[in-house]
This record gives sequence, structure tokens and C-alpha cells, in this order.
Amino acid sequence: MWGGRFAEGPSAIMREINASIPFDKALWRQDIAASKAHVGMLGAQGIVAPEDAATIAAGLDQVAAEYEANGVPEDWDLEDIHMTTESRLAALIGPVAGRLHTARSRNDQVATDFRLWVRDAIDQADAGLAALQRALVDRAGEHAASIMPGFTHLQTAQPVTLGHHLMAYYEMAARDRSRFADARARMNRCPLGAAALAGTGFPIDRQATAVALGFDGPTDNSLDSVSDRDFALDYLMAASQCALHLSRLAEEFIIWASQPFGFVRLPDSLSTGSSIMPQKKNPDAAELVRGHAGRIVGCLTALMITMKGLPLAYSKDMQDDKPPVFEAAGLLTLCLAAMTGMVAATQFRTDRMRAAAELGYATATDLADWLVRQANIPFREAHHITGAAVKLAESKGVALDQLPLEELQAIDARIDQRVFAALSVEASVAARASHGGTAPAEVEKRVAAARTALGLG
Ligand code: ARG
Repeated sequence: MWGGRFAEGPSAIMREINASIPFDKALWRQDIAASKAHVGMLGAQGIVAPEDAATIAAGLDQVAAEYEANGVPEDWDLEDIHMTTESRLAALIGPVAGRLHTARSRNDQVATDFRLWVRDAIDQADAGLAALQRALVDRAGEHAASIMPGFTHLQTAQPVTLGHHLMAYYEMAARDRSRFADARARMNRCPLGAAALAGTGFPIDRQATAVALGFDGPTDNSLDSVSDRDFALDYLMAASQCALHLSRLAEEFIIWASQPFGFVRLPDSLSTGSSIMPQKKNPDAAELVRGHAGRIVGCLTALMITMKGLPLAYSKDMQDDKPPVFEAAGLLTLCLAAMTGMVAATQFRTDRMRAAAELGYATATDLADWLVRQANIPFREAHHITGAAVKLAESKGVALDQLPLEELQAIDARIDQRVFAALSVEASVAARASHGGTAPAEVEKRVAAARTALGLG
């Protein structure tokens, strides 16, 4: 493409280090779409004769059909998807193909293609998150009143409901979706027409190409247009945050599936066995989600470090922007699908959860709250009295509500028979009806609101 200036061709090493076609062929659909928008505009503006523009557009359609049928050929000499397509176009329609690259550069071309690709990846992540939310809401609705221990420091803290626990992940997924939506809104400006870096002297219509490609409008600074990769970083940041959430959910399933917990039976379809231990059913999908989250964060780090020292405008380092984004997007899609399947098909062992909630004095706070409410004792003092009761129960190896009333009264005479009603795990969760609390009635409200937000009946 630049033979005019060069006396010799590239060395084998140059060819290999320079080739991005092995990975950027993934951009072929975007590249064809952007070229069609560009040549349509060139024709409309009279920069290229309308009949030539039509010939080029038809040729691009033919190249696309070939790619669709046979895949994109990988010729390192053609470096990237842009030159691969242009060269095939020239083979099909002859020298008129050379008019396509009028008033553009690969710099604005790749910036445009990549934005289009990332925009699709955002839409795919949003669809995956919506599916996860639907699964969470369905299971939360089933288990709005199923009691389990809530933890802090992974120590039994207070009883909660499983529905409440699952809805916590619904909220995280909602924020993830809004992060992707923010990224999409911010990136949806078209760099095409910035040309190499300075703009062009041809009378192009940037608004027209932007609209043809579904952008909100053109970018406003040509140097920024070809050197900005914020949009890819925004995507990777949103993907990383989403992956961290999925990893935490995966970690919970892993813990819950362990024998001492036994809170869940994971679906066989998302588990594996052991080649030596016949009894094993391992939570591999969840472990890989946890593992993949690390790789996704690695992709973010990789691109941040690629970009951190680059002067304006385009530098070839930026060719390395695509592999981490492609990798992260592939991993994220898998992770979302795996966790959606796990949420949908896991069998929750509510009997085991309920029994575990009885352990660990999970209703101690309810005793303290009862003392505050019924005996008007300041909370700090109530906390102290309750601590003594827990100590006594622990020394006798019984639950709080199994302590005889006389022994409780020996700790504090203001305790009476009514306290026992407050000490059950059911009473404990039912009491927590503050906005966003774990009371089944409140969880049902949140589930109903979520179903409305998701457009479910
Ligand atoms: N293959 C290149 C990339 O992906 C396309 C842009 C090349 N531009 C250039 N001036 N060498 O970044």
C-alpha cells in the first residue's frame, strides 16, 4: 500500500510483529459497515462520482459475503482487516477501489470500527446482565421467606432470607448495567473523518457518516478522535467491576456447596467430577468465574499500561488495544452465562440453611433490641446484658431461646416471658422491615419492583 516510498519490502520479523489480522479480523463487519457509510457519504458529497461510490459499495457487499461464507483470509503482508478488505475489493472491482480511502486514514477507520465493536460488546453485556437479573429475581421470589444465616467476617451475624441475599446481587447487576450504559452514552460519537490526525481538506459530511453508523454525532477534535481509547477502557472497567461481582457470587456458591455448609446442590450441568474420588462433584464453573475475573482485570491493566505514555496522536502501540478487549468480552460473556445458569438451576437446601441460622446466636441482637424496646434499657447496656446471656448459653451448649427464664432473669430481672417470641429466627427477620431490610414482606416488595423494572409480568 505504501510501496512508492520503499526500496525493499519488510523483513519476516517486521511482517510478523506488524500483523494484526490474526485478531483484528474480528472487526470485519464493523469495517465493512464503516466503509459503506464512508463511501456513501463520498458519493453524496460528489467527492467520488456517485456511480463509482455505488460500485464500491456493491463490491464491499461482495467482500462481506465472501467473509461470511469462507472466513477472513489471514495474509500477514496485508497487516490488518482494513488492508485485507481493501485489497480484496481491488481484486473484485479493479482500480476504482482505490477511491474508497479518499478523505480517511486507517487511524480514524480503526477508531471507528473498534468503537462499533465495543458498542456491540456493551449491548451483549447488558443482555447477559438482564438475564442474570431475571434468574435472581425468580429465585428470590421463591425464597423471599427462606431463612438462612447472614454473615459478617463469615461469622454468623443475623438471620436473613435467601431471597434478600440473592436480591443483593440483583442490585449489583443493576449498577453494572448502568455503568455499561454510561460507557455507551459517552463513547457514542463517531471519529470517522478525523483522517490521520488533522482532519481533511475534502468537503466531507461527518454528521452523515456518524448517523449512518448509529452514533449520536461526530467527535469534535481530530487528534483526540484517533488517539482516544477511553471508550475501550471504560468498557474494561465496567467489565472488571461486573466480573468482580460475578466472582463474589461464584465464591458464595463455592462455599455454600462445600459439605460443612451444604446450603446448595449445584446443577450437574455446571459441575465436574474427579478422576480419582468417585464421590466428588466440584464447582468448577464457579471456580472458573472466580478465576476469569482475575484475567478480565488483567485485560484492563494491560490496556491502561499500553495507553499511559502515548503522545498524541496514533502510535502503533495502540494496535495492542484489541486483544485485551476481545479477551475480556469473551470471558465476560461466559461468566455471565455460567452464573445465570447456576442461579437458575441450583437447588437450595433451605432446611440446612434454616438449621444453620439457629446456630451461632444469630438472634442475640433481637434480645438486645427487645431489652431496649420492652424495658427501655439503653442499647449499650442491653448489648452487655445480651453478651452475658450468650456466654451462659454457650457454656451450657444451648440456643438462646433454650435458656430457662429464671436463668435469664438472674442476668437481668427486667427480662420476662415475652422475650421468647422475639428470639426465633422468623421473628428476627420479620422484624427487619425497614426499607431495604430482610423482612419477607420487604423482600417481596423489592422483588415486585425489580420485576417491573425488568418488564416482567
Ligand atoms: N492495524 C492498525 C491498528 O490496529 C490500524 C491503524 C494503522 N495505522 C497506522 N498509522 N499504522 O491500530
